[in-house]
Amino acid sequence: MNKLEQLRQEAVEKITEVKNLNGLNDLRVLYLGKKGPVQELMKAMKDLPKEEKPAFGQKVNELKKELSQFIEERKEALAKLEMEAKIEKEKIDITLPGRVPELGTMHPLNLVRQELEDLFIGLGYQVIEGDDIVDDLYCFERANIPKDHPARDMQDSLYINPERLLRTHTTAIQMVVLEQSAPDKAIKVVCPGKVYRRDDDDATHSHQFMQMEGLVIGEHVTLADLKGTLEFAAKKLFGDERKVRFRPSFFPFTEPSVEVDVSCHICGGKGCPTCKGTGWIEVLGAGEVHPNVLKMAGYDPEKWNGFAFGIGIERMAMLKYGIDDIRHFYTNDKRFTSTFKRFE
Ligand code: PHE
Repeated sequence: MNKLEQLRQEAVEKITEVKNLNGLNDLRVLYLGKKGPVQELMKAMKDLPKEEKPAFGQKVNELKKELSQFIEERKEALAKLEMEAKIEKEKIDITLPGRVPELGTMHPLNLVRQELEDLFIGLGYQVIEGDDIVDDLYCFERANIPKDHPARDMQDSLYINPERLLRTHTTAIQMVVLEQSAPDKAIKVVCPGKVYRRDDDDATHSHQFMQMEGLVIGEHVTLADLKGTLEFAAKKLFGDERKVRFRPSFFPFTEPSVEVDVSCHICGGKGCPTCKGTGWIEVLGAGEVHPNVLKMAGYDPEKWNGFAFGIGIERMAMLKYGIDDIRHFYTNDKRFTSTFKRFE
């Protein structure tokens, strides 16, 4: 009984003094473990006289219970202390001013492209993209551009091998869409994308630029439909007052072909430097799809017809935002690109 009391005091003292959870766990193993003194006392019971056994056994059980309980209490207290210490150590100063993340802006070419896409989607068009590297067949042959046409000249096009080149116009996508839809599907698509030409860069020329091809094929699609469509687009982009006019032109893949002018959005048509005093700004080429093009793609030109147009995205962006040099789009100077609003 003496030994038991001594053990109790010693254990209580140690458990009271222990400073952390690991130390406490060591003590639990030390006193209450299989090889610990409490267990030893249990074993020693067998040497006691029979009449003393029950009382002693009860005492040992009480001690065991008391120590277990005390260890649990200390465990809670120590866990709380350790948590408090951790919180103290990991404290963050929430009064420090934060770092403001720098937000990028949409590139003006993407803004214009998106605006055009939205506009045409609103008119029921589908947006189709194609490959940048295309067969000569789709870029030229199917566009009714014969082998000796100057547009195929090595001076103008970037060939990869005699049959493959970087597309020089989005008309190459038009030819693929035509072939895929022939012989009897109506079409209403716009095809935006980059195009490439062997050109020396200056304020108005770039060896890489963007176009958006438009193509509508049906059974009764007229030049008047084309004019109405482009007038709607011009009003959306440059204001309700805009007017559109057609001038005769030539493209091998359209007949008749037209050059499309929009009344100047700067001076309203009176004449100013932007429109070079004419009151009109040339914006794109267009026309009725040439019967040869329809035939080569697999359509019956007696039954099907349609119009196509090719919008220069840079040209639109330059007019819309008053940009005077096409090279600004590609030099990625943040002082330039950051002036365009992110969500416009
Ligand atoms: N592909 C012509 C160009 O690059 C533009 C165009 C497209 C003209 C469709 C008429 C019809 O200049």
